[in-house]
Amino acid sequence: MKTIIANYKMHLGVRESVALARGVLRGIRGADVLPEIVVCPSYPALAEVRKALARSHVRLGAQNVAAEAAGAVTGEVSAAQLADVGCAYTLVGHSERRRGAHETDADVHAKIVQLHAAGITPVVCVGESAEQRANGSAESAVRGQVLRALEGAVWPRKMPVMFAYEPVWAIGSGQPATVADVLAMHRVVRQAAADALGVAEDEVAVLYGGSVDGENAYQYLREREVRGVLVGSASIKMHEFLRIVDAAIDVVNAQQ
Ligand code: PGA
Repeated sequence: MKTIIANYKMHLGVRESVALARGVLRGIRGADVLPEIVVCPSYPALAEVRKALARSHVRLGAQNVAAEAAGAVTGEVSAAQLADVGCAYTLVGHSERRRGAHETDADVHAKIVQLHAAGITPVVCVGESAEQRANGSAESAVRGQVLRALEGAVWPRKMPVMFAYEPVWAIGSGQPATVADVLAMHRVVRQAAADALGVAEDEVAVLYGGSVDGENAYQYLREREVRGVLVGSASIKMHEFLRIVDAAIDVVNAQQ
């Protein structure tokens, strides 16, 4: 199975998010096999997008979650509240949050714990900076992010483990990582997560994210080790996003 996640970031209002989600539903109508598709709009659009997706196979996701369970935490949204509005997935530790909101690996860890308690699958984003890639520390940087995010985590057996390898320099830059680099880094993520959690490497799903578009999606998706893609800019362009979904459909069909 492949998973395609659309991260609308802070680009769209409620109406635009709903229109885009409806467009995805129209675009996949009639397909007999589908990848798992997850749409992550901003918080204010979650409830309306949920209605638009009702009775479809497309799942709802959030872009962030509070590190705390509940209480006097002004401006935050808890995992329980996300579950309440129908989220099945939530991004955690996106590089824009690590950089812009100074989110640490300890925050990422706390968020994973909250999401598990609420029955939501965390999609843990990890990735090295351009500087780390240039000085040869990409692998150790990413391994460290994975290990610190999972440290001490008691992983519920039924919960799938999902990561997104997103090199910071590839996000929104139009410079995607090469397939060879993606495969090498996915191995690093899988090994670190499997060690930390005591699960088999096969149980660790890793997506690729960073300038994925309709043109290049297939080259990643056709690799067995790439469990899917996390799409930013191209996810808010209907035609581009549907091309990515089509690439995944081709791969899923070929693998049946
Ligand atoms: P991009 O963003 O597809 O625009 O590079 C990916 C992401 O930020 O998750």
